[in-house]
Amino acid sequence: MGFYENRVLPHLIDKGCGAPPIAKQRQKVVPQASGRVLEIGMGSGLNIPFYDVSRVELVWGLEPSDGMRRKAASRVADAPFEIRWLDLPGEEIPLEDDSADTVLLTYTLCTIPDFRAALAQMRRVLKPGGRLLFSEHGAAPDPGVRKWQDRINPIWKKLAGGCNVNREILTALEEAGFALHDVETMYLPATPKIAAFQYWGWATHR
Ligand SMILES: C[S@@+](CC[C@H](N)C(=O)[O-])C[C@H]1O[C@@H](n2cnc3c(N)ncnc32)[C@H](O)[C@@H]1O
Repeated sequence: MGFYENRVLPHLIDKGCGAPPIAKQRQKVVPQASGRVLEIGMGSGLNIPFYDVSRVELVWGLEPSDGMRRKAASRVADAPFEIRWLDLPGEEIPLEDDSADTVLLTYTLCTIPDFRAALAQMRRVLKPGGRLLFSEHGAAPDPGVRKWQDRINPIWKKLAGGCNVNREILTALEEAGFALHDVETMYLPATPKIAAFQYWGWATHR
């Protein structure tokens, strides 16, 4: 992995994903996490302050990038609950079947290369009755915005660590065998529309 991916990108992702409108989105989903939680693509640990400590038993932080884990180190050290790193990608979750009460997915499904394989893994490790909480950005419903998302995506993906602006998030979850609940959508304020369309809610085994 080169200097840009290992040193520059973690800093840019931490700044970009730490923007106040995104923090408001985190507040809508992360406090619902409970029990044994698997966070997919923990990144620089920006969700840590949003967990409800009284509900969380343990967090597995799955994050394949050394640079992102390094960026998260101080937040992880200060966390008021146990965090265990899993330094593998979402396509290879090293947990037993039915081992997580909650899977937390924020701003990561856009980036995972084989997102279908990763969602199958998430479904495998999520206990029956458990919840997959998500807050993601993806394909916009307006044809004009969507056209630009498709045009810009190849360049965006190169600069933004593999992030896709045009992924069909809800379709991906449904096709992976999840039932969706309380889904809401909107354009994030103060954000270029091509990267602003938000989906959040929760999902269970169908
Ligand atoms: C835009 S960042 C979001 C980080 C964090 N989830 C957040 O909400 O701030 C995307 C993260 O996905 C991670 N990632 C990349 N490929 C992945 C994969 N195959 N499986 C899991 N995470 C991956 C990246 O290293 C990065 O930390």
